[in-house]
Amino acid sequence: MADALGLDARVRPVTVAGVDYLNIEGDDDLLTRVVSEASGAFALFGSADGLLRPTALERRRPYSDDLVTIQKYQGKTNEQFTHLLLNVTAALAKRPQALLDGSLHVLDPMCGRGTTLNTCLLRGIDVTGVDLDKKDFEAYQAFIATWLRSHRLKHEIDASQVRREGRTLGRALELETAPTKEDWKAGRTQQVTYLNVDTTRLERVMRRTSVDVVVADTPYGVQHGSHGDKLDRSPVQLLERALPSWHDTLRTGGTVGLAYNRHVVKPAELADVLDAHGFSVVHGHGAPAAGLDEGAFRHRVDASIDRDIVVARKG
Ligand SMILES: C[S@@+](CC[C@H](N)C(=O)[O-])C[C@H]1O[C@@H](n2cnc3c(N)ncnc32)[C@H](O)[C@@H]1O
Repeated sequence: MADALGLDARVRPVTVAGVDYLNIEGDDDLLTRVVSEASGAFALFGSADGLLRPTALERRRPYSDDLVTIQKYQGKTNEQFTHLLLNVTAALAKRPQALLDGSLHVLDPMCGRGTTLNTCLLRGIDVTGVDLDKKDFEAYQAFIATWLRSHRLKHEIDASQVRREGRTLGRALELETAPTKEDWKAGRTQQVTYLNVDTTRLERVMRRTSVDVVVADTPYGVQHGSHGDKLDRSPVQLLERALPSWHDTLRTGGTVGLAYNRHVVKPAELADVLDAHGFSVVHGHGAPAAGLDEGAFRHRVDASIDRDIVVARKG
C-alpha cells in the first residue's frame, strides 16, 4: 500500500529480545495510517535509543471486532486473510487512498456467509455481497440482525425479492447502520447489501460501474461439509461465466482480487481467463506487483489447499 501511494518506506525484518518485528523507516505522516491498516499489524512501536515505545494504531474500526470473529463455520475465509486480500486489491486500484478514507465500495461476488461483508462493515466501508446459496444468505441475515440488536446499534434492515421482467431472480438484504446515534442522526452511515442471486448474471441486478474493488475467495474444488464449493467446483469455468458481469459492475481503474487454490487452478490459466475478459494482471502470473515476488502471498491452508492470490485491473 505504501508503494502504491508513492510513500518512501524501507521495510526489513528484525528480531528484538527473541521476538520478530518488521522495522519500517519513513517519515511521511500517512505511513502510520497505512501500516496500521495492514492485516498483520497487531501492535506498533516507535524506536528511540534502542528502546521500543508503544504507539497507538491509527486505524478506522468504527465497530467492535467481534463482528468478524464470532462466526465459526466450515469453509469460512480466515478474517485476517480477508483483510489482506482487500488491502492488496484496493492498493493496486487506481485510487488506493479510497481504502483509507472509507469512500471505497467493495463487491464480494461469492460472499458465502459474509466474511468480506463484515470485514468491510468493521472498517466503515460500503459493501455488496452475492451468493447463490440460500442457506448462506439466511445464516448471514440471522447473524447480522442479532449482532446489530445485541450491540444496540441504530439500523434499518430490509429483506425483499429481486424481480426483473416479472421473474423472481432471488432475494436481497439491504442494511444501513451507524456506529453511534450521533452518526446515525447526521447520516454518517454504512450500507451492506447481500444479493442471493447467481453471480454470473449480475448485470441484471447491479448498476454498471458502481463498485471500486471486487474481492472473492473462489471455490477451492474441495468439499467443505455443507458449505463452500457445492455450487460450482471449477473456479475457471465459473470465472469464464462470471467475469463479464463483474467487469461491467467495476469502475475503470478498479481491481479484482481473487484467492484461489493452486491445486485446482494454475496461475497462468487464471491470468489467461482474466486477460480474455478485459483485465490486466497487476499481481500474479508473470506480473508481480512492485516490490513483491510473484509468490509473495502463496501459503498452505491445509493438505488440499495451496492458496495464492491474483489481482487484475480494469482499464
Ligand atoms: C470459498 S466460498 C466463500 C466463503 C466466504 N468468503 C465466507 O467466508 O463465508 C465460495 C462461495 O462461492 C459461492 N458460489 C459458487 N458458485 C456461485 C454462483 N454461480 N453464484 C454465486 N455464488 C456462487 C458458493 O456458494 C460459496 O459460498
